Formats: sequence, C-alpha cells, structure tokens
Amino acid sequence: MSPAIFLAGLCVGVFILQWISQLISRRQQAKTWGCKPAHRAPGTIGIAPFYRLTKAFREKRWIELIADEYARYGTTHKQALLGKDYITTIEPDNVKAILATQFNDFCLGVRHAQFYPLLGDGVFTLDGAGWTHARGLLRPQFSREQVADLSMLNDHISHLVNLVPQDRSVFDVQQLFFMLTLDSATHFLFGESVGCMLPPSQTSGVLQNSAVGNAKGFAHSFELAQGCIRDRVIAQNLYWFINPQGFKDANRKVHEVIDHYVHIALESKRKADSTDGRYIFLRALAAETDDPKLLRDSMLNILLAGRDTTASLLSSTFFYLARHQKVWTRLRGEILKEFGDDTQAEITHASLKNIRYLRYVLNEALRLQPPVPVNFRVATQDTSLPVGGGEDGQSPIFVKKGQQVYYSVFAMHRRTDLWGEDASIFRPERWEENAKHGWEYLPFNGGPRICLGQQYALNEASYTVVRLMQHFDTLENADPHPRTEPIKLSNLTMSHELGVPIRLYSTKQAL
Ligand code: HEM
Repeated sequence: MSPAIFLAGLCVGVFILQWISQLISRRQQAKTWGCKPAHRAPGTIGIAPFYRLTKAFREKRWIELIADEYARYGTTHKQALLGKDYITTIEPDNVKAILATQFNDFCLGVRHAQFYPLLGDGVFTLDGAGWTHARGLLRPQFSREQVADLSMLNDHISHLVNLVPQDRSVFDVQQLFFMLTLDSATHFLFGESVGCMLPPSQTSGVLQNSAVGNAKGFAHSFELAQGCIRDRVIAQNLYWFINPQGFKDANRKVHEVIDHYVHIALESKRKADSTDGRYIFLRALAAETDDPKLLRDSMLNILLAGRDTTASLLSSTFFYLARHQKVWTRLRGEILKEFGDDTQAEITHASLKNIRYLRYVLNEALRLQPPVPVNFRVATQDTSLPVGGGEDGQSPIFVKKGQQVYYSVFAMHRRTDLWGEDASIFRPERWEENAKHGWEYLPFNGGPRICLGQQYALNEASYTVVRLMQHFDTLENADPHPRTEPIKLSNLTMSHELGVPIRLYSTKQAL
C-alpha cells in the first residue's frame, strides 16, 4: 500500500471514529436531558419538500404552506431539506427558550454575511459582543421622549392625505403607506425627510447631490438592495451566489446618501452648532461616536428594521378595516369622541393610549398578518428545547450545534387551541376579553432582541389611523378579488402582493 493511500485511509478512519464518538456522546447527553425524538416529516433527503417550498415561493403562498405543515406533522417537527435537517416549531415554550431563557444557545447564523453588503455591522445583523455594543448605543435613543413626539408626523400625514384621490376613485393605500414610512423614518433618523410623497422639485439637496438624484431614486435603490437580500436569505448558505452588479450599485447609492447625512451630523458636532433644540436621532448618536461607518450602519439597520414593518402593519389594518365595516364604525366613533374631527388638534402618546379599541385593532392586524411571519435561529452548541419530543410531544428534544430552528409567528398566532375556534377571523374584540398574552403572541419578538422600535411603530400606526379617520368618514373595499385573506409577499417583511385597493373619502366633501 502506498503511503498516500495509507494516509487517506487513516484520515477517513479518524473522521469516522470521531463521528461515531460524537454520535454516542450526543445520545448520552440527550438521555440525561430527558430528550425524546421529535416527529419527522416524511423524506430523508428532502427533495420533495424543497420542490414544494420553491413552488410555494413562486405562488406567494409559502407562509401558508409552512403553516399547513404544522397541522400535518405536529407543532414541533423535524424536516429534511436538500440533505439538511432542520427543526421547526410553533410551541410558545420552545420559542421562549430560543429567544429568551436559552438566548446564548442560539445565534443568527449567516444573517450577518447575507445582509453585510447593505447593512454592514449593526444591531440587526450582529451576534455576541458586537450586538451588545450596537444595541447599547441605540437603546437610549428609543427610550427618549422623542419616540413619543408625534408632531413630526403631521406634515407627512398631510402629504399622504393630498395623495388620496379627491374624486373617490380606487387607489392602493399600501403604496402610500410605504412612502409615508420612508418619509417619516428618514425624518426621525436624519432630521430631514427624503420626501418621496413630495414633487421631485422639492427633493432635498443631499439627494440631488447624490447618484440617486431624488427621493424616488433613493426608494428604488433601497428596495432593490432589499430584494437581493431577500434572495440571499432564501439561498441560505449559498447566499454568496447572489451578488449581481445591480445589488452592488444599489448599495453604493444608498451608502452615498447616508454618508452625506452622517457627514452633516459629524460636522455639526465638530462645530458644536447642534443647538437648534430639535431632536435628531443621528445627531444624538453622533454625540456618542465619531466613527462614520458605525453611524452609517446603525442608521441603515434601523431604517431597514422599521420602515417596511410599519407600512405592513398599516396596510394590513386597512385591509381588514375595509372588510369589517362594524369595526371601522366603532373605531371611528371612539376616535372622534376622544379627538373630535379637528385634524390639527394635538394628539399625544398618552391620549392615544386612551383609545383602547385602537390598540386592539392594531393587535389583531399584527396577530393575523405579523410583518415578520417566519424567523429562525441556529444553535451555537448542543442544547435542547423543552417540548416536541415523544409520542405526545411533551418531552424535550435534542438540538445539535449548528442546527437551524425555525419558528412561524404567523402559524402560532392562528393556533385554534391557543386562540379559539375563530383564530383565523379578524375580531379585535377578542383583546377586550383577554388583553394579556404571553409567548403565543409575538409580532415584535421577545427576549433580549425584542424589537427596539415597538413603541415608535405603534405610535406611528395609531397616529396615522386617527388622522385618516378624522379626515375621511368612509372606507370602501375596492378589491376586484373577493378574498378575506391577503396574498402575502414576503420581501424581508410581509406585504400584500396585490396591494390594498380601497376608496377613502369624506361624504361631507362635494365631488
Ligand atoms: C409594526 C412594526 C414592527 C414590527 C412588527 C417589528 C418587528 C420586529 C421583529 C420581529 C424583530 C426581531 C427580528 C429578529 O430578531 O430576527 C425586530 C427587531 C428590531 N426592530 Fe422592529 N418591528 C417593527 C418596527 C420597528 C421600528 C419602527 C423600528 C425602528 C424605528 C424597529 C427597530 C428594530 C430593531 C433595531 C431591531 C433589532 C433588535 C435587535 O436585534 O436587538 N422596528 N422588529
């Protein structure tokens, strides 16, 4: 036998021995933890599930497909997908373990690499010490009164109202909400809105001096980059395959715009001329660091995390309100009772809280259409999850290092055993009967990585609904398709594939 063959044989032998010894030690560990096997979906390699999933992606019904699989194979089960085994669960106890009680046993996996070209190193993409630092830098900005300062939204809502057709014709309110949240988020973050609801002639100097040229150009580049990131997320470990020139160009253009704002903030800090009293997120952050890349990455992480999600919540709220006239009427009644119909009357965070029913309507839209419907984590070490094992699914299950664990908030929010037989029906009154929910209700995630912008988002959505209800007394569903559930298109967050076509007008206003 030649030395080369001997060496190769030795390597293979050592590898097999290590593999067997790891298998045995994992079995022993699983036994010590009381783990039992999880239910398995049929198939060992997972070609058929992969085909089903890609087909469902094309048909924009993959979120529903995953929900159906829980009904078929159990609320926690294992499935093979192209030779890789993953665990998927909608058990609140397991989700709580992943996100909170066993936080350090899980990480984001390849998310950082998938998002890096656009987002760099930020709170949304980092794990470990980097994440702790990024979150620590941002958290104080979200606990400030500024998050509750709603006055800056007023102009943006007026721009939105101006874009609602005066002649009562049909329009897609989702498109307007995506513009609204881009304008308001950039205003909140940079102190100046990109103004995509305004005529191009009113575009800010920062945009005119950059490659995007105007607000629509910025929105286009940002959305294009997000679309590529979505494809990289779907490609999982093969994300690096997806790196077209268009993606690189879009990232460069977006970075150029943000860098302009960062430059202005750092200059104003250097000259100490930031005393005009206005709160600007970026300026407040620049007080903590001079690092332009850290500032750019932080801004982009928040813009990405906060813009589409809030637009999605508003779109879903109007999707359901247009189909539930009783809810529209009751909510509008309560809003007018509290604020009257003066669209200039002051609205505060505290006064919004007085309208409980508004919160219930938003809760219900977030329950049925959570903007982040499916998520996953990767095990950082061998560990276990509390339920899903054995015949009755009540025993712990073993999770090996590197294993992906998926959870669908969308499916968990529709479990009839948790929410009642009418779980898939839009009924805000259910929150009146039971306003408190635990880990079975998770639109904003939970644990140490809970959404930083939750209060900001709820304030913005509430304020928008109030102002629109003050302006308009009539909302009509104008969807040509008779459907009670939207067709979902998950970019990075959920949106409505066919838009949300409505008519919105005031009967007091003559045609
Ligand atoms: C209805 C609107 C929103 C929903 C449903 C939502 C939901 C979520 C969810 C589910 C996560 C966890 C993602 C993960 O860990 O995998 C998250 C994280 C985050 N959200 Fe939101 N979000 C919303 C609005 C906002 C807004 C308006 C902002 C900022 C202005 C924001 C900032 C963030 C940040 C910075 C994180 C990362 C937190 C971390 O990993 O430590 N979100 N959000």
